[in-house]
Amino acid sequence: MSPFEALQLPNGQVLANRIAKAAMEENMADARQAPSRELKQLYKAWADGEPGLLLTGNVMIDRRAMTGPGGVALEDEQHLASFREWADIARAKGVHFWVQLNHPGRQTMANLGQQALAPSAVALDLGGFSKMFAKPKAMTEDDINDVIQRFATSARLAEQAGFTGVQIHAAHGYLLSQFLSPLSNQRTDRWGGSLENRARLLVEVITAVRASVSPGFCVAVKLNSADFQRGGFDAADARAVVELLNTLPVDLLELSGGSYEAPAMQGEARDGRTLAREAYFLEMASELAAIATMPVMVTGGIRRLPVVQQVLDSGIAMAGIATALTLEPQLIKHWREGRDLNPQLQPIRWKRKPLASLATMAVVREQLRRLSRGRLPNPSVAPLLALVRDQWFIARRTRQYRAAMTQSSQ
Ligand SMILES: Cc1cc2nc3c(=O)[nH]c(=O)nc-3n(C[C@H](O)[C@H](O)[C@H](O)COP(=O)(O)O)c2cc1C
Repeated sequence: MSPFEALQLPNGQVLANRIAKAAMEENMADARQAPSRELKQLYKAWADGEPGLLLTGNVMIDRRAMTGPGGVALEDEQHLASFREWADIARAKGVHFWVQLNHPGRQTMANLGQQALAPSAVALDLGGFSKMFAKPKAMTEDDINDVIQRFATSARLAEQAGFTGVQIHAAHGYLLSQFLSPLSNQRTDRWGGSLENRARLLVEVITAVRASVSPGFCVAVKLNSADFQRGGFDAADARAVVELLNTLPVDLLELSGGSYEAPAMQGEARDGRTLAREAYFLEMASELAAIATMPVMVTGGIRRLPVVQQVLDSGIAMAGIATALTLEPQLIKHWREGRDLNPQLQPIRWKRKPLASLATMAVVREQLRRLSRGRLPNPSVAPLLALVRDQWFIARRTRQYRAAMTQSSQ
């Protein structure tokens, strides 16, 4: 199987090749949480690189529940024209462009000033950094139904705007992933306890989303192959969820791993397990792909074409790439033309792991901001400088967000 061979999805849609630009939160919404000019410029750079699939960074289903202060929210028709312009960028190139839909649950910064919702009132444990996150309230049945409806509404709006699919984010410790994990979901009602109960919200969201869009519109899911935390969502849970998803109309299943507490998606396991140096989740993903009836994509630590080939040779339909595409946005096109590129960041080996993790994100986000202004990437930026700049940027966006939310509530 060549990385440049097309892939037909269960709903009949065809992706032009087997490499996707994976979701990366951009924090580049305008003051109304709609797509900005910079955001569109960034996606033009990626669409020009002709990936088989372009995924947005997570787009919020509720502007009160943000993964970051500069995130895009799609909850009503108010800014549909701007979303349409965003979708058109990829459509002009014939590239599939899907919106990743997300709700952060308890992974919400406290300084955004909103009440965080979660399956149970269990706060994030990030040691000395825990206070930076909002204390969550356990969701009521009404809160849960509202979330299901919001996923469905955002998906319908994404289709109306001209996107060709949505990806439901059920990985990385966000709300749907919190419901799946017995550590964060301690409910005793029909939404907690057994795996079937913990997966109920994901199943209901997929069902509601599918019912709100047309059959040719793609519906995908991003799931953890494991949370990499003792007592958390593990490989056996992931297998059981895949069996459940097999009974639903899911067009692509992306596998990743980890959460804010255990950022395995950055290649770090906290449960003592050693992750592979490249394609971190490949072994677990190929086991899951063997039982999945829909095509599977794996993301995490892929930056070389031979590794993409290894992914495909392991029975996986697609490879997702995030970081490497911020260093070389046209990587896929270059590979197809025979150029042997291997864009890579220097690992940050600071003792304080959460800080090193923030710095890694900051270095990547610096590349996103450069690309959004039509500049070239600068992978050799000093991590500390990138971190300071990123914190300044986030603080400014936080002030803007709080002011906008106060204004809209008056
Ligand atoms: C700056 C940044 C933002 C990210 N935002 C998202 C996101 O919005 N949604 C998501 O599912 N994953 C997000 N990720 C994780 C990536 O999709 C991917 O799973 C992870 O970076 C590992 O892939 P890579 O090694 O190719 O970077 C983000 C990663 C980075 C570096």
